[in-house]
Amino acid sequence: MKRDIISVLDMKSDFEKFVDDGIRLKKSFRAGKRDSSMERKTLGMIFEKASTRTRVSFETAMTQLGGHAIYLSPRDMQMGRGESIADTARVLSGMVDGVLYRAFEHDNVVELARNSTISVINGLDNLEHPTQIVADFMTIKEKKGSLKGLKIAYVGDGNNTANSLMLASGLVGSDFWIATPKGYEPLDQFVMAAKKLAKKQRSEVEVTNEWKEAVAGADVIYTDVWVSMGEEKEKEIKEKAFKKYQVNEKMVSLAKKDHIFMHCLPAHRGLEVTNAVADSKNSVIFEEAENRLHAEKIILKKVIN
Ligand code: CP
Repeated sequence: MKRDIISVLDMKSDFEKFVDDGIRLKKSFRAGKRDSSMERKTLGMIFEKASTRTRVSFETAMTQLGGHAIYLSPRDMQMGRGESIADTARVLSGMVDGVLYRAFEHDNVVELARNSTISVINGLDNLEHPTQIVADFMTIKEKKGSLKGLKIAYVGDGNNTANSLMLASGLVGSDFWIATPKGYEPLDQFVMAAKKLAKKQRSEVEVTNEWKEAVAGADVIYTDVWVSMGEEKEKEIKEKAFKKYQVNEKMVSLAKKDHIFMHCLPAHRGLEVTNAVADSKNSVIFEEAENRLHAEKIILKKVIN
């Protein structure tokens, strides 16, 4: 049976194993061991939105594993001229071994998966960003040694990345605090699901509008852009609403001294984070970005094989 990764919850039973195996695979790659488990396999990659990390990491992962990736932009596909997602799914199922899909709408990723006989991986949609979160927890585990009991403070928009981080925190037993301006909290469905998972792990998921409460004593501070792709019309309103939620030196001084600063990138320096924080000794943003490559490999190996 095929396995899709549309939500972090699709890795529910073994999310931490994805993280641990990703770290192991990275070490083995750095030690010079080669892995050709994607030999003669092809990944189709549909990108409705721009991407640097997701595109380059999946394409490079396929190359390093002996396979091949095809970048597909709806602008150049018949999908962009009205061919249905269902028909596209059936056609791709007969030609490639898996599809990565970055979509504006979560329902479109679900539709592609429902009509495919091959695995579909969500490369970010309006609700979730599951592949990013594997790389994020790899980074946290590498830096902190374990995940359970850590306090993760996410400051910013209750967006797709926040939703996936919150669910994953619930799965691994990290305490997750999210601080947003009023009206920008994550959707209830994600908060409820994450709280349910956290309860099993005896950890907590807290939503607040007070960033000080979230950041106090944190092991990890995480932020993301205030204006996601597709929200450009809201730029002015959001930048005003989020001004007090900028991750700056004053804010991070409330966290543990050895906290790490994370950002899934791209960063809008001077808005959600200052240069002083992004380039500080506590910042792990570029190791986090590099971990996308290793995370994608473990996802491909577990899903496409
Ligand atoms: N973090 C992330 O998904 O980056 P890209 O938008 O560049 O793929």
